[in-house]
Amino acid sequence: MIVEARETETIGLQTAPSAPGRRQRVLSGMQPSGNVHLGNYLGAIRNWVAQQEIYDNVFCIVDLHALSLPTTRETLRANIRNLANVLLASGLDPERSVIFVQSDVPEHAELCWLLNSVTQFGELRRMTQFKDKAGSQVEGVSAALFVYPVLQAADILMYDADLVPVGDDQKQHIELTRDIAERFNARYGETFVLPTPDIKPAGARIMALDDPTKKMSKSATSPNTYVALRDDPDTIRRKIRRAVTDSGSEVTAGPDKPALTNLLTIYSLLSGETIAALEARYAGKGYGVFKADLGEVVVDAIGPIQRRLAELEADPDAASRALAAGAERARERARRKMALVRERMGLGFGRS
Ligand code: TYM
Repeated sequence: MIVEARETETIGLQTAPSAPGRRQRVLSGMQPSGNVHLGNYLGAIRNWVAQQEIYDNVFCIVDLHALSLPTTRETLRANIRNLANVLLASGLDPERSVIFVQSDVPEHAELCWLLNSVTQFGELRRMTQFKDKAGSQVEGVSAALFVYPVLQAADILMYDADLVPVGDDQKQHIELTRDIAERFNARYGETFVLPTPDIKPAGARIMALDDPTKKMSKSATSPNTYVALRDDPDTIRRKIRRAVTDSGSEVTAGPDKPALTNLLTIYSLLSGETIAALEARYAGKGYGVFKADLGEVVVDAIGPIQRRLAELEADPDAASRALAAGAERARERARRKMALVRERMGLGFGRS
């Protein structure tokens, strides 16, 4: 997919190579904050992998974001390594995509600070993810949790991303990113590209297995809520078997059947069959047969990822090499962008 390159005013500095007919740029990120689950895979990773050929991609393991909630050195380090291996095992290719760890490119934290100056307190207070995560503990949560969306805006704006492939829960953060970019551009001159969220109609909100009114989440207290990409086949079968269902016995999707809609969505995305075809196949068969088959579909889909994961874990240098090379490429782009941003804002002693 080709877009017209944006004309950028320059002050002896380029935002990014702006050759006409360049490929659209993609940036997305994932927190190393727990078990990667089917929701992360269907809402994000799978789309990143599928679109690698089409776009100019940057994918970021956002370890600075993971500091917004309490963690430990050991947990964070282990989660970063796990996530790196999971992304590579899922098919992200370091030859075709830039894959790196956020803190390896210190410009992200710097840009976050600069963008804080054009972000309003009220905007951040309205973020639903902040309200959900802070809950009743608003006075005790970290300031990092509050400015979390500004760091996310920095990730996106740093690389002139046109598109941000994410699940539904990130939409509000990307809208805020656009507002921040617009305000910055109005105040300092055209500097940032306004990004568009790339949210697919199916899979953007996979719900918890034990409660279809809540989204599947890494931070859930009960592991029965999600299928982790690392779960062994028996655990996967058991979790699907125990997934809550709706009243009635027909395998159909619809607003009155949130649990079945969720399970049918997972089945459809992993098998490539439409929900209508699945409803027809399971008509009159009952939930038990459907769930047993879905368990096998999930096991078969995750199996190849798990086999590659085992290979990568046997060779820890593979991920380390890939991420070091990715950080090098990301730093190069970030350095150029930040030189422009500092100049636009009048920071430093300057050259003229
Ligand atoms: P995170 O780490 O919570 O989730 C990573 C991606 O997975 C998607 N996702 C889901 N999709 C469908 N169903 C679900 N139940 C589900 N749960 C999670 C998320 O929408 C996301 O796409 N703030 C971001 C990380 C981030 C980022 C960025 C994303 C930091 N900087 C820049 C995009 C661009 C987050 O916490 O994602």
